[in-house]
Amino acid sequence: MAPWAKTGGLADVSAALPKALAARGHEVTCFLPRYGSIAFPPGRFIGSVHVPVDALHRSAGFYERELGPNLRVIFVEHPPFFDRPGFYGDPGGDYGDNAFRFAFFCRAVIEFCRSRGYRPDAFHAHDWQTGLLPVYLKAFYPDDPTLYRVPTVFTVHNLAYQGHFSAATLGPLGLPDSLASEDALDWKGNICYMKGGLLFSEVVTTVSPTYAREIQTAEFGHGLESVVRSRADDLVGILNGVDYEEWDPRHDRHIAAPFDETDHTGKAACKRALLAEFGLAAEPEAPLIGIISRLVHQKGFDLVTEAMEALLARPIRMVALGTGEPDVEAGLREFMRRDPRRFGVRFQYDSGLAHRIEAGCDMILMPSRFEPCGLTQMYSMRYGTIPIVRATGGLADTVEHFDPKRRKGTGFVFEHADTTGLLWAIDEALSAWAKPGPWTVLMQNAMSRDFSWALSAERYEAVYSHAQNSI
Ligand code: ADP
Ligand code: GLC
Repeated sequence: MAPWAKTGGLADVSAALPKALAARGHEVTCFLPRYGSIAFPPGRFIGSVHVPVDALHRSAGFYERELGPNLRVIFVEHPPFFDRPGFYGDPGGDYGDNAFRFAFFCRAVIEFCRSRGYRPDAFHAHDWQTGLLPVYLKAFYPDDPTLYRVPTVFTVHNLAYQGHFSAATLGPLGLPDSLASEDALDWKGNICYMKGGLLFSEVVTTVSPTYAREIQTAEFGHGLESVVRSRADDLVGILNGVDYEEWDPRHDRHIAAPFDETDHTGKAACKRALLAEFGLAAEPEAPLIGIISRLVHQKGFDLVTEAMEALLARPIRMVALGTGEPDVEAGLREFMRRDPRRFGVRFQYDSGLAHRIEAGCDMILMPSRFEPCGLTQMYSMRYGTIPIVRATGGLADTVEHFDPKRRKGTGFVFEHADTTGLLWAIDEALSAWAKPGPWTVLMQNAMSRDFSWALSAERYEAVYSHAQNSI
Protein backbone atom coordinates (compact mmCIF):
# COMPACT_ATOMS: atom_id res chain seq x y z
CA MET A 1 0.00 0.00 0.00
CA ALA A 2 1.50 3.32 -1.15
CA PRO A 3 3.40 5.12 0.14
CA TRP A 4 4.57 2.50 2.67
CA ALA A 5 5.15 -0.59 0.61
CA LYS A 6 5.14 -0.47 -3.16
CA THR A 7 6.33 -2.80 -5.89
CA GLY A 8 3.66 -2.00 -8.45
CA GLY A 9 0.07 -1.05 -9.09
CA LEU A 10 -1.43 -2.98 -6.18
CA ALA A 11 0.10 -0.38 -3.87
CA ASP A 12 -1.58 2.46 -5.75
CA VAL A 13 -4.95 0.71 -5.73
CA SER A 14 -4.69 -0.19 -2.04
CA ALA A 15 -4.20 3.47 -1.23
CA ALA A 16 -6.68 4.98 -3.67
CA LEU A 17 -9.73 2.71 -3.42
CA PRO A 18 -10.04 3.09 0.37
CA LYS A 19 -9.68 6.85 -0.04
CA ALA A 20 -12.45 6.90 -2.65
CA LEU A 21 -14.71 4.73 -0.48
CA ALA A 22 -14.10 6.90 2.58
CA ALA A 23 -14.95 9.99 0.54
CA ARG A 24 -18.27 8.32 -0.25
CA GLY A 25 -19.01 8.02 3.46
CA HIS A 26 -17.82 4.50 4.26
CA GLU A 27 -15.68 3.76 7.28
CA VAL A 28 -12.57 2.02 5.93
CA THR A 29 -9.79 0.27 7.83
CA CYS A 30 -6.79 -1.01 5.85
CA PHE A 31 -4.46 -3.63 7.30
CA LEU A 32 -0.85 -3.88 6.20
CA PRO A 33 2.12 -5.83 7.60
CA ARG A 34 4.66 -3.52 9.22
CA TYR A 35 7.39 -4.36 6.72
CA GLY A 36 11.00 -3.41 7.33
CA SER A 37 10.65 -0.48 4.91
CA ILE A 38 8.10 1.15 7.23
CA ALA A 39 9.54 3.25 10.05
CA PHE A 40 8.84 2.12 13.59
CA PRO A 41 6.55 2.91 15.28
CA PRO A 42 4.29 3.28 12.26
CA GLY A 43 1.45 4.75 14.30
CA ARG A 44 -0.27 4.69 17.69
CA PHE A 45 -0.02 1.37 19.51
CA ILE A 46 -3.51 -0.03 20.04
CA GLY A 47 -2.86 -3.46 21.46
CA SER A 48 -1.87 -6.96 20.54
CA VAL A 49 -3.38 -10.41 20.12
CA HIS A 50 -2.14 -13.97 20.19
CA VAL A 51 -2.03 -15.45 16.66
CA PRO A 52 -1.85 -19.23 16.39
CA VAL A 53 -0.04 -20.17 13.18
CA ASP A 54 2.91 -22.46 13.61
CA ALA A 55 2.51 -23.81 17.12
CA LEU A 56 4.83 -21.08 18.44
CA HIS A 57 3.62 -18.38 20.81
CA ARG A 58 3.37 -15.59 18.32
CA SER A 59 1.56 -12.35 18.84
CA ALA A 60 0.76 -9.44 16.57
CA GLY A 61 1.00 -5.80 17.63
CA PHE A 62 -1.32 -3.27 16.05
CA TYR A 63 -0.41 0.32 15.27
CA GLU A 64 -3.08 2.67 14.02
CA ARG A 65 -2.72 5.72 11.84
CA GLU A 66 -5.56 8.04 10.81
CA LEU A 67 -5.37 8.95 7.13
CA GLY A 68 -8.43 11.20 7.05
CA PRO A 69 -12.10 11.21 7.91
CA ASN A 70 -13.42 7.60 7.98
CA LEU A 71 -10.05 6.25 6.92
CA ARG A 72 -7.30 4.55 8.89
CA VAL A 73 -4.54 2.07 8.35
CA ILE A 74 -3.55 -0.50 10.96
CA PHE A 75 -0.05 -1.91 10.72
CA VAL A 76 0.36 -5.48 11.87
CA GLU A 77 3.68 -5.85 13.67
CA HIS A 78 5.58 -9.09 14.07
CA PRO A 79 9.30 -8.46 13.57
CA PRO A 80 10.40 -12.07 13.01
CA PHE A 81 8.11 -12.24 9.98
CA PHE A 82 7.99 -8.74 8.60
CA ASP A 83 11.00 -6.72 9.73
CA ARG A 84 13.07 -7.72 6.70
CA PRO A 85 14.46 -5.79 3.74
CA GLY A 86 12.00 -7.32 1.22
CA PHE A 87 8.25 -7.76 1.21
CA TYR A 88 8.02 -11.21 -0.35
CA GLY A 89 11.64 -12.20 -0.78
CA ASP A 90 15.21 -11.11 -1.40
CA PRO A 91 17.29 -11.18 -4.59
CA GLY A 92 17.86 -14.90 -4.00
CA GLY A 93 14.13 -15.67 -4.27
CA ASP A 94 10.98 -15.83 -2.16
CA TYR A 95 11.33 -16.09 1.61
CA GLY A 96 11.04 -19.73 2.67
CA ASP A 97 8.42 -18.99 5.33
CA ASN A 98 5.97 -16.99 3.20
CA ALA A 99 3.26 -19.57 3.89
CA PHE A 100 3.46 -18.69 7.58
CA ARG A 101 4.06 -14.98 7.15
CA PHE A 102 0.88 -14.40 5.18
CA ALA A 103 -1.24 -16.92 7.07
CA PHE A 104 -0.16 -15.03 10.18
CA PHE A 105 -1.17 -11.73 8.62
CA CYS A 106 -4.66 -13.00 7.69
CA ARG A 107 -5.28 -14.58 11.05
CA ALA A 108 -3.98 -11.51 12.89
CA VAL A 109 -6.47 -9.28 11.06
CA ILE A 110 -9.34 -11.62 11.91
CA GLU A 111 -8.24 -11.96 15.53
CA PHE A 112 -7.92 -8.21 15.85
CA CYS A 113 -11.56 -7.78 14.77
CA ARG A 114 -12.80 -10.66 16.90
CA SER A 115 -11.00 -9.57 20.05
CA ARG A 116 -12.41 -6.08 19.80
CA GLY A 117 -15.96 -6.98 18.82
CA TYR A 118 -15.32 -5.09 15.59
CA ARG A 119 -17.67 -6.39 12.91
CA PRO A 120 -16.98 -5.09 9.43
CA ASP A 121 -19.66 -5.14 6.71
CA ALA A 122 -17.17 -6.97 4.52
CA PHE A 123 -13.54 -7.95 4.28
CA HIS A 124 -11.87 -7.01 1.01
CA ALA A 125 -8.78 -9.16 0.44
CA HIS A 126 -6.20 -8.71 -2.32
CA ASP A 127 -4.12 -11.35 -4.12
CA TRP A 128 -2.65 -14.62 -2.86
CA GLN A 129 -1.12 -13.11 0.27
CA THR A 130 -4.64 -12.76 1.68
CA GLY A 131 -6.14 -15.89 0.11
CA LEU A 132 -6.37 -17.65 3.48
CA LEU A 133 -8.50 -14.92 5.06
CA PRO A 134 -11.84 -16.32 3.85
CA VAL A 135 -10.53 -19.85 4.48
CA TYR A 136 -9.89 -19.06 8.15
CA LEU A 137 -13.23 -17.27 8.45
CA LYS A 138 -15.08 -20.31 7.16
CA ALA A 139 -12.98 -22.81 9.13
CA PHE A 140 -13.06 -21.21 12.58
CA TYR A 141 -15.44 -18.28 12.79
CA PRO A 142 -18.83 -19.24 11.31
CA ASP A 143 -20.37 -19.15 14.80
CA ASP A 144 -18.28 -16.35 16.20
CA PRO A 145 -20.57 -13.76 17.82
CA THR A 146 -18.70 -10.95 16.09
CA LEU A 147 -17.66 -12.37 12.75
CA TYR A 148 -20.37 -14.84 11.75
CA ARG A 149 -21.61 -14.18 8.22
CA VAL A 150 -19.14 -11.39 7.44
CA PRO A 151 -18.50 -11.83 3.71
CA THR A 152 -15.21 -11.61 1.85
CA VAL A 153 -14.63 -9.95 -1.49
CA PHE A 154 -11.43 -11.24 -3.04
CA THR A 155 -9.67 -9.26 -5.75
CA VAL A 156 -7.25 -10.84 -8.19
CA HIS A 157 -4.66 -8.30 -9.25
CA ASN A 158 -2.49 -10.84 -10.96
CA LEU A 159 -3.30 -14.52 -11.36
CA ALA A 160 0.31 -15.34 -12.25
CA TYR A 161 1.37 -15.08 -8.59
CA GLN A 162 -0.49 -17.79 -6.71
CA GLY A 163 1.26 -18.68 -3.44
CA HIS A 164 1.98 -22.43 -3.69
CA PHE A 165 3.14 -24.22 -0.56
CA SER A 166 3.55 -27.73 0.76
CA ALA A 167 0.31 -29.38 1.87
CA ALA A 168 2.17 -30.27 5.07
CA THR A 169 1.80 -26.58 6.02
CA LEU A 170 -1.89 -27.06 6.80
CA GLY A 171 -1.22 -28.87 10.08
CA PRO A 172 1.01 -26.18 11.61
CA LEU A 173 -1.43 -23.53 10.37
CA GLY A 174 -4.10 -25.25 12.42
CA LEU A 175 -6.20 -25.89 9.32
CA PRO A 176 -7.82 -29.29 8.70
CA ASP A 177 -6.03 -31.64 6.30
CA SER A 178 -9.31 -32.03 4.43
CA LEU A 179 -8.58 -28.61 2.92
CA ALA A 180 -5.89 -30.23 0.79
CA SER A 181 -8.63 -31.57 -1.49
CA GLU A 182 -9.32 -30.81 -5.13
CA ASP A 183 -12.41 -28.72 -4.31
CA ALA A 184 -10.45 -26.67 -1.75
CA LEU A 185 -6.77 -25.67 -1.70
CA ASP A 186 -5.11 -28.53 -3.58
CA TRP A 187 -2.77 -27.64 -6.38
CA LYS A 188 -1.02 -30.68 -7.82
CA GLY A 189 -0.34 -32.08 -4.39
CA ASN A 190 0.55 -28.70 -2.90
CA ILE A 191 -1.77 -26.04 -1.57
CA CYS A 192 -2.51 -22.74 -3.29
CA TYR A 193 -3.47 -19.60 -1.37
CA MET A 194 -4.87 -17.90 -4.47
CA LYS A 195 -7.24 -20.81 -4.92
CA GLY A 196 -8.41 -20.30 -1.33
CA GLY A 197 -9.29 -16.71 -2.12
CA LEU A 198 -11.06 -17.73 -5.31
CA LEU A 199 -13.14 -20.51 -3.78
CA PHE A 200 -13.89 -19.32 -0.25
CA SER A 201 -14.91 -15.72 -0.92
CA GLU A 202 -18.45 -14.62 -1.56
CA VAL A 203 -17.47 -12.50 -4.56
CA VAL A 204 -14.35 -12.51 -6.71
CA THR A 205 -13.34 -9.42 -8.60
CA THR A 206 -10.50 -8.59 -10.89
CA VAL A 207 -9.22 -5.31 -12.16
CA SER A 208 -10.65 -5.04 -15.68
CA PRO A 209 -13.58 -6.55 -17.59
CA THR A 210 -11.31 -8.04 -20.26
CA TYR A 211 -9.04 -9.72 -17.70
CA ALA A 212 -12.16 -11.16 -16.01
CA ARG A 213 -12.89 -12.94 -19.30
CA GLU A 214 -9.28 -13.83 -20.05
CA ILE A 215 -8.60 -15.62 -16.74
CA GLN A 216 -11.34 -18.11 -17.58
CA THR A 217 -9.20 -19.36 -20.48
CA ALA A 218 -6.18 -21.65 -20.52
CA GLU A 219 -4.06 -18.92 -22.12
CA PHE A 220 -4.41 -16.55 -19.16
CA GLY A 221 -5.59 -18.78 -16.32
CA HIS A 222 -2.14 -20.04 -15.24
CA GLY A 223 -3.74 -23.41 -14.49
CA LEU A 224 -6.51 -21.91 -12.34
CA GLU A 225 -8.91 -21.24 -15.24
CA SER A 226 -11.35 -23.98 -14.28
CA VAL A 227 -11.40 -22.71 -10.68
CA VAL A 228 -12.08 -19.20 -11.98
CA ARG A 229 -14.79 -20.52 -14.30
CA SER A 230 -16.45 -22.27 -11.37
CA ARG A 231 -16.96 -18.76 -9.89
CA ALA A 232 -18.10 -17.16 -13.14
CA ASP A 233 -21.47 -16.16 -11.64
CA ASP A 234 -19.74 -14.31 -8.80
CA LEU A 235 -16.88 -12.84 -10.82
CA VAL A 236 -16.80 -9.14 -11.70
CA GLY A 237 -14.20 -7.12 -13.60
CA ILE A 238 -13.91 -3.58 -12.26
CA LEU A 239 -11.40 -1.27 -13.86
CA ASN A 240 -8.96 0.40 -11.48
CA GLY A 241 -9.11 4.15 -11.24
CA VAL A 242 -6.51 6.89 -11.05
CA ASP A 243 -5.87 8.98 -7.98
CA TYR A 244 -5.68 12.38 -9.68
CA GLU A 245 -4.47 14.00 -6.46
CA GLU A 246 -1.31 11.97 -7.02
CA TRP A 247 -1.16 11.92 -10.84
CA ASP A 248 -2.07 15.28 -12.35
CA PRO A 249 0.32 17.47 -14.39
CA ARG A 250 -1.43 20.62 -13.13
CA HIS A 251 -0.10 20.06 -9.62
CA ASP A 252 2.60 17.41 -9.56
CA ARG A 253 5.38 18.25 -7.10
CA HIS A 254 7.83 15.95 -8.88
CA ILE A 255 7.86 17.62 -12.31
CA ALA A 256 9.75 20.57 -13.79
CA ALA A 257 6.69 22.63 -14.78
CA PRO A 258 2.92 22.20 -14.57
CA PHE A 259 0.76 21.87 -17.68
CA ASP A 260 -2.75 20.92 -18.76
CA GLU A 261 -4.69 20.04 -21.88
CA THR A 262 -4.94 23.61 -23.10
CA ASP A 263 -1.33 24.66 -22.58
CA HIS A 264 1.53 22.26 -23.29
CA THR A 265 4.44 24.64 -22.71
CA GLY A 266 5.03 23.07 -19.30
CA LYS A 267 5.26 19.65 -20.95
CA ALA A 268 7.99 20.90 -23.27
CA ALA A 269 9.94 22.06 -20.20
CA CYS A 270 9.43 18.64 -18.58
CA LYS A 271 10.79 16.96 -21.70
CA ARG A 272 13.90 19.17 -21.75
CA ALA A 273 14.50 18.48 -18.07
CA LEU A 274 14.08 14.73 -18.56
CA LEU A 275 16.47 14.62 -21.54
CA ALA A 276 19.01 16.45 -19.40
CA GLU A 277 18.42 14.16 -16.40
CA PHE A 278 19.24 11.12 -18.56
CA GLY A 279 22.08 12.89 -20.35
CA LEU A 280 20.38 12.56 -23.75
CA ALA A 281 20.87 15.00 -26.62
CA ALA A 282 18.65 18.08 -26.37
CA GLU A 283 16.58 17.40 -29.48
CA PRO A 284 13.00 18.13 -28.51
CA GLU A 285 11.65 17.50 -32.02
CA ALA A 286 12.53 13.78 -31.86
CA PRO A 287 9.91 11.65 -30.12
CA LEU A 288 10.80 10.40 -26.65
CA ILE A 289 9.41 7.02 -25.59
CA GLY A 290 9.21 6.09 -21.91
CA ILE A 291 9.20 2.77 -20.07
CA ILE A 292 8.24 2.52 -16.39
CA SER A 293 7.77 -1.05 -15.35
CA ARG A 294 8.64 -4.16 -13.51
CA LEU A 295 10.88 -5.84 -16.07
CA VAL A 296 9.37 -9.32 -15.98
CA HIS A 297 8.11 -11.71 -18.67
CA GLN A 298 4.52 -10.43 -18.21
CA LYS A 299 5.50 -6.97 -19.39
CA GLY A 300 6.97 -8.07 -22.74
CA PHE A 301 10.12 -5.93 -22.79
CA ASP A 302 12.09 -8.85 -24.17
CA LEU A 303 10.25 -7.97 -27.42
CA VAL A 304 11.82 -4.53 -27.24
CA THR A 305 15.31 -5.91 -26.90
CA GLU A 306 14.59 -8.49 -29.60
CA ALA A 307 13.65 -5.62 -31.93
CA MET A 308 16.80 -3.68 -31.01
CA GLU A 309 18.30 -3.27 -34.49
CA ALA A 310 14.98 -2.11 -35.93
CA LEU A 311 14.46 0.32 -33.07
CA LEU A 312 17.99 1.72 -33.28
CA ALA A 313 17.28 2.41 -36.96
CA ARG A 314 14.21 4.51 -36.13
CA PRO A 315 14.36 8.19 -35.13
CA ILE A 316 13.40 7.63 -31.52
CA ARG A 317 14.73 8.44 -28.08
CA MET A 318 13.98 6.18 -25.14
CA VAL A 319 14.21 6.34 -21.34
CA ALA A 320 13.52 3.29 -19.21
CA LEU A 321 12.94 2.98 -15.47
CA GLY A 322 12.46 -0.44 -13.98
CA THR A 323 13.80 -3.41 -12.14
CA GLY A 324 13.47 -7.08 -12.86
CA GLU A 325 14.90 -9.97 -14.80
CA PRO A 326 18.64 -9.65 -15.46
CA ASP A 327 18.42 -10.48 -19.18
CA VAL A 328 15.77 -7.81 -19.80
CA GLU A 329 17.86 -5.28 -17.86
CA ALA A 330 20.92 -6.33 -19.87
CA GLY A 331 19.00 -5.93 -23.14
CA LEU A 332 17.86 -2.43 -22.26
CA ARG A 333 21.36 -1.50 -21.09
CA GLU A 334 22.64 -2.57 -24.50
CA PHE A 335 20.52 0.14 -26.16
CA MET A 336 22.27 2.71 -24.00
CA ARG A 337 25.68 1.24 -24.74
CA ARG A 338 24.96 1.40 -28.47
CA ASP A 339 23.72 4.99 -28.45
CA PRO A 340 23.99 6.80 -25.11
CA ARG A 341 22.79 10.11 -26.60
CA ARG A 342 19.44 8.57 -27.52
CA PHE A 343 18.82 5.85 -24.93
CA GLY A 344 18.87 6.06 -21.15
CA VAL A 345 18.12 3.49 -18.46
CA ARG A 346 17.75 3.45 -14.67
CA PHE A 347 17.44 0.10 -12.94
CA GLN A 348 15.98 1.29 -9.66
CA TYR A 349 12.70 2.05 -7.98
CA ASP A 350 12.10 5.80 -7.96
CA SER A 351 8.58 7.20 -7.68
CA GLY A 352 9.62 10.80 -8.38
CA LEU A 353 11.37 9.74 -11.58
CA ALA A 354 8.28 7.76 -12.61
CA HIS A 355 6.33 11.03 -12.47
CA ARG A 356 9.00 12.89 -14.42
CA ILE A 357 8.97 10.22 -17.16
CA GLU A 358 5.16 10.36 -17.38
CA ALA A 359 5.39 14.13 -17.78
CA GLY A 360 8.44 14.44 -20.01
CA CYS A 361 7.89 11.69 -22.60
CA ASP A 362 5.78 11.82 -25.74
CA MET A 363 4.84 8.15 -25.67
CA ILE A 364 4.88 5.31 -23.18
CA LEU A 365 5.45 1.69 -24.12
CA MET A 366 3.59 -1.28 -22.57
CA PRO A 367 3.95 -4.38 -24.77
CA SER A 368 2.48 -6.65 -22.05
CA ARG A 369 1.77 -10.32 -22.71
CA PHE A 370 -0.99 -9.98 -20.16
CA GLU A 371 -2.03 -7.00 -18.09
CA PRO A 372 -4.76 -7.37 -15.48
CA CYS A 373 -5.36 -3.62 -15.53
CA GLY A 374 -2.25 -1.51 -15.85
CA LEU A 375 -2.11 1.91 -14.30
CA THR A 376 0.84 3.41 -16.13
CA GLN A 377 -1.13 3.87 -19.37
CA MET A 378 -3.91 5.67 -17.52
CA TYR A 379 -1.43 7.97 -15.77
CA SER A 380 0.27 8.63 -19.12
CA MET A 381 -2.93 9.70 -20.79
CA ARG A 382 -3.50 12.42 -18.20
CA TYR A 383 0.05 13.68 -18.91
CA GLY A 384 -0.55 13.73 -22.67
CA THR A 385 1.95 10.87 -23.04
CA ILE A 386 0.54 8.56 -25.64
CA PRO A 387 0.34 4.87 -24.75
CA ILE A 388 1.60 2.23 -27.19
CA VAL A 389 0.12 -0.97 -25.81
CA ARG A 390 -0.74 -4.54 -26.58
CA ALA A 391 -4.47 -5.40 -26.74
CA THR A 392 -4.79 -7.37 -23.53
CA GLY A 393 -6.59 -7.03 -20.18
CA GLY A 394 -6.97 -3.51 -18.90
CA LEU A 395 -4.82 -2.11 -21.71
CA ALA A 396 -7.51 -3.21 -24.20
CA ASP A 397 -10.19 -1.66 -21.98
CA THR A 398 -8.53 1.72 -21.55
CA VAL A 399 -6.65 2.55 -24.76
CA GLU A 400 -8.39 3.08 -28.09
CA HIS A 401 -6.32 2.92 -31.28
CA PHE A 402 -5.99 6.35 -32.88
CA ASP A 403 -7.82 6.98 -36.13
CA PRO A 404 -6.57 10.31 -37.54
CA LYS A 405 -9.44 10.60 -40.04
CA ARG A 406 -12.14 10.36 -37.41
CA ARG A 407 -9.89 12.18 -34.93
CA LYS A 408 -10.76 9.47 -32.42
CA GLY A 409 -8.62 7.35 -30.16
CA THR A 410 -6.10 7.76 -27.35
CA GLY A 411 -3.10 5.63 -28.29
CA PHE A 412 -1.72 2.80 -30.41
CA VAL A 413 -2.80 -0.78 -29.87
CA PHE A 414 -1.29 -3.95 -31.34
CA GLU A 415 -2.69 -7.48 -31.25
CA HIS A 416 0.16 -9.94 -31.36
CA ALA A 417 2.91 -10.27 -28.77
CA ASP A 418 5.73 -10.31 -31.31
CA THR A 419 8.20 -7.84 -32.74
CA THR A 420 6.12 -7.35 -35.89
CA GLY A 421 3.16 -6.20 -33.80
CA LEU A 422 5.35 -3.99 -31.64
CA LEU A 423 7.12 -2.31 -34.58
CA TRP A 424 3.83 -1.83 -36.42
CA ALA A 425 2.41 0.09 -33.43
CA ILE A 426 5.58 2.14 -33.00
CA ASP A 427 5.52 3.03 -36.70
CA GLU A 428 1.86 4.05 -36.44
CA ALA A 429 2.86 6.30 -33.56
CA LEU A 430 5.81 7.76 -35.47
CA SER A 431 3.70 8.59 -38.50
CA ALA A 432 1.11 10.33 -36.30
CA TRP A 433 3.93 12.18 -34.51
CA ALA A 434 5.10 13.53 -37.87
CA LYS A 435 1.82 15.46 -38.22
CA PRO A 436 1.53 18.06 -35.46
CA GLY A 437 -2.20 18.70 -36.05
CA PRO A 438 -3.41 15.14 -35.50
CA TRP A 439 -0.88 14.64 -32.69
CA THR A 440 -2.37 17.57 -30.78
CA VAL A 441 -5.84 16.04 -31.22
CA LEU A 442 -4.52 12.72 -29.97
CA MET A 443 -2.98 14.37 -26.91
CA GLN A 444 -6.20 16.17 -26.18
CA ASN A 445 -8.22 12.97 -26.53
CA ALA A 446 -5.90 11.19 -24.11
CA MET A 447 -5.70 14.02 -21.59
CA SER A 448 -9.45 14.40 -21.42
CA ARG A 449 -10.11 10.75 -20.58
CA ASP A 450 -11.40 10.46 -17.04
CA PHE A 451 -10.46 7.35 -15.07
CA SER A 452 -11.24 8.77 -11.64
CA TRP A 453 -12.05 6.35 -8.85
CA ALA A 454 -15.60 7.53 -8.14
CA LEU A 455 -17.16 5.28 -10.78
CA SER A 456 -15.15 2.20 -9.82
CA ALA A 457 -15.78 2.82 -6.12
CA GLU A 458 -19.51 2.81 -6.86
CA ARG A 459 -19.11 -0.56 -8.56
CA TYR A 460 -17.29 -1.93 -5.51
CA GLU A 461 -20.19 -0.74 -3.32
CA ALA A 462 -22.50 -2.88 -5.42
CA VAL A 463 -20.09 -5.80 -5.04
CA TYR A 464 -19.95 -5.44 -1.23
CA SER A 465 -23.76 -5.45 -1.10
CA HIS A 466 -23.91 -8.48 -3.35
CA ALA A 467 -21.38 -10.24 -1.09
CA GLN A 468 -23.50 -9.47 1.98
CA ASN A 469 -26.56 -10.86 0.30
CA SER A 470 -24.84 -14.04 -0.79
CA ILE A 471 -23.49 -15.29 2.55
P1 ADP B 1 2.08 -3.66 -12.15
O1 ADP B 1 1.22 -3.52 -10.94
O2 ADP B 1 1.85 -4.93 -12.87
O3 ADP B 1 3.52 -3.46 -11.85
P2 ADP B 1 0.76 -1.21 -13.07
O4 ADP B 1 0.81 -0.50 -14.36
O5 ADP B 1 -0.59 -1.50 -12.51
O6 ADP B 1 1.65 -2.52 -13.20
O7 ADP B 1 1.45 -0.33 -11.94
C1 ADP B 1 2.78 0.00 -11.96
C2 ADP B 1 3.03 1.02 -10.88
O8 ADP B 1 4.35 0.88 -10.40
C3 ADP B 1 2.91 2.44 -11.39
O9 ADP B 1 2.54 3.28 -10.31
C4 ADP B 1 4.35 2.74 -11.82
O10 ADP B 1 4.64 4.10 -11.81
C5 ADP B 1 5.12 2.03 -10.73
N1 ADP B 1 6.46 1.58 -11.06
C6 ADP B 1 6.83 0.45 -11.75
N2 ADP B 1 8.18 0.35 -11.81
C7 ADP B 1 8.67 1.43 -11.16
C8 ADP B 1 9.99 1.90 -10.87
N3 ADP B 1 11.06 1.23 -11.27
N4 ADP B 1 10.12 3.05 -10.18
C9 ADP B 1 9.02 3.73 -9.77
N5 ADP B 1 7.77 3.35 -10.02
C10 ADP B 1 7.58 2.21 -10.69
C1 GLC C 1 -1.15 -6.05 -10.83
C2 GLC C 1 -1.27 -6.06 -12.33
C3 GLC C 1 -1.57 -4.72 -12.94
C4 GLC C 1 -2.64 -3.99 -12.14
C5 GLC C 1 -2.23 -3.91 -10.69
C6 GLC C 1 -3.25 -3.20 -9.81
O1 GLC C 1 0.11 -5.78 -10.37
O2 GLC C 1 -0.12 -6.61 -12.94
O3 GLC C 1 -2.00 -4.88 -14.27
O4 GLC C 1 -2.84 -2.69 -12.65
O5 GLC C 1 -2.09 -5.20 -10.17
O6 GLC C 1 -4.51 -3.80 -9.88
